[in-house]
Amino acid sequence: MNKITVIGAGNVGATVANVIAHKELAHEVILVDIKEGLAEGKALDIWQSSSINNFNSRVIGVTNDYLKTKGSGIIVVTSGIPRKPGMSRDDLIKTNASIVKDVTEKAIKYSPDAIIIVVSNPLDVMTYAAFKTTRKKSTKVFGMAGTLDTGRYKAFLAEALNVSPKDIHALLMGSHGDTMVPLPRYTSVAGIPVTQLLSKEVIDKIVERTRKGGGELVNLMGTSAWYAPGAAVAQLVEAIVDNQRRIFPVCAYLSGEYDLDDIYLGVPAVIGQNGIEEIVQVELNNEEKKLLQDSANAVKETMNVLDEMNLFD
Ligand code: NAI
Ligand code: 2OP
Repeated sequence: MNKITVIGAGNVGATVANVIAHKELAHEVILVDIKEGLAEGKALDIWQSSSINNFNSRVIGVTNDYLKTKGSGIIVVTSGIPRKPGMSRDDLIKTNASIVKDVTEKAIKYSPDAIIIVVSNPLDVMTYAAFKTTRKKSTKVFGMAGTLDTGRYKAFLAEALNVSPKDIHALLMGSHGDTMVPLPRYTSVAGIPVTQLLSKEVIDKIVERTRKGGGELVNLMGTSAWYAPGAAVAQLVEAIVDNQRRIFPVCAYLSGEYDLDDIYLGVPAVIGQNGIEEIVQVELNNEEKKLLQDSANAVKETMNVLDEMNLFD
């Protein structure tokens, strides 16, 4: 791809730019921030590792100069404030919704055809805000959370089983929040259902730790994570750039799928050159359906906060 823009040069944005450059997913990676000099500095630092790490992608940082982002094929939105200890993702909504709207408007002016990947929290509602801002086809606007949350889930399972995380395949749905829905019934280890390898008690503990995975890191570091989130975004970018048609859980717009309507929520989808190529509908039992509905209800509550802001016509 010719150009990819990453908005927000903080912990997550800079990591996304770094991984994209290492994987040479674009000729140019443009890093944008509002804070004078920050994106320029981080981009220069990444670019100076190019000869050491053997990559050609040119990484360029700018302060609010969206003209430089012109013609981007993908725009990753990470700008906003991260969670602090004791703060829920929903506490972030008022500040981050205005930021997401503002940067998305500026970016699509110069890259009207770009696929937008939203990372800013609260993720499901911020993705909805970007969708409302762009008025694009919903398949071109989606959010990253499921690839991170399954990454955490797989890491915990690999640890419990003492096997390679590479052999673990897992599905997780719902919101990027405490109501997310990891699905042990759709989790396997080299083809073996995880339910045959671990007791219900151990799996339940892992599911709970996964749900609180973001908070665990916030409590340890005083701010939220960036290595796994950055890698998880780059995995989606790679699937688009190489038209891989891989199936990942992403935060997608639902209009009837899973009996849910007019909401962005985590579901499995085929990711390729057009963004979301297809939403995959898996069979859920009554308990799983209820968990997904509870998760959707929690997102709808946060969407009410967005509605009250009257940001969109
Ligand atoms: P950070 O504070 O390190 O970086 C955010 C950057 O956004 C800052 O450099 C800030 O100057 C910039 N920014 C703020 N307003 C801006 C604007 N109007 N235009 C351009 N840049 C602007 O935060 P971090 O850790 O990078 O997290 C970013 C966001 O991603 C947060 O909302 C966080 O909660 C979320 N997040 C989401 C994850 C997910 O799975 N979806 C995982 C990890 C973080
Ligand atoms: C995370 O899950 C806070 O969304 C952020 O790490």
